[in-house]
Amino acid sequence: MDKEQINIISDTQVYVHEQLATEGSGHDYEHSTRVYRMALWLAEDETVNEFVIAIAALVHDLVDSKLVTSETDALDNLNYFLEGEGISSKDIEHILTIVSSISYHKHAHLDSREAEIVQDADYLDAIGAIGIARAFMYGGSKQQLIYSSQNDESTLQHFYDKLLHLTEYLHTDKAKAVGEKRQAVMEDYLISLLNEINFN
Ligand code: ADP
Ligand code: NI
Repeated sequence: MDKEQINIISDTQVYVHEQLATEGSGHDYEHSTRVYRMALWLAEDETVNEFVIAIAALVHDLVDSKLVTSETDALDNLNYFLEGEGISSKDIEHILTIVSSISYHKHAHLDSREAEIVQDADYLDAIGAIGIARAFMYGGSKQQLIYSSQNDESTLQHFYDKLLHLTEYLHTDKAKAVGEKRQAVMEDYLISLLNEINFN
């Protein structure tokens, strides 16, 4: 990446920090930073547009429907910021396509390797030790129970509904290798949690 692109990345980090520093459901600035670092690491051995990956990873949650009231307004604001940074319209279009399509709940078809890499990085941050922490943080922010004997919504249930299945959807071999380790961390944790709940 050239100097100009590195400067844009710094500006984007400041912009994301301004918007997500006080986010309280596990989609905060540090999540954005982890996804950015992981995505660039996943991209290392591939012929891809690293700049697009870096920016898309940093901004991916600025348009998440859970965090903003209007996804269209959020995309417009992001577009305005990216244009102001002097990014080419081709790269902006690619970045906006990535951030609008990678969310798990959309089950969207991804049409570029860059999108697959950013999604892999985002999925890896939802599993393993960090994923456990984020799930309970998200649950706490929604007053959700840790677990329930009464079939009420709980964060424990979220592991079975979603988090334990995420590795099946990873695209890159590097992410699959990391995912395997993080899957084992979650499985061990859930065994301990269930043992403690059941007094073993
Ligand atoms: P995506 O935007 O890709 O659909 P989410 O924003 O739903 O992903 O997930 C982001 C984080 O919030 C993850 O770490 C996930 O575990 C957590 N999360 C989402 N929904 C729940 C839930 N119902 N209970 C606990 N954690 C949740
Ligand atoms: Ni995310």
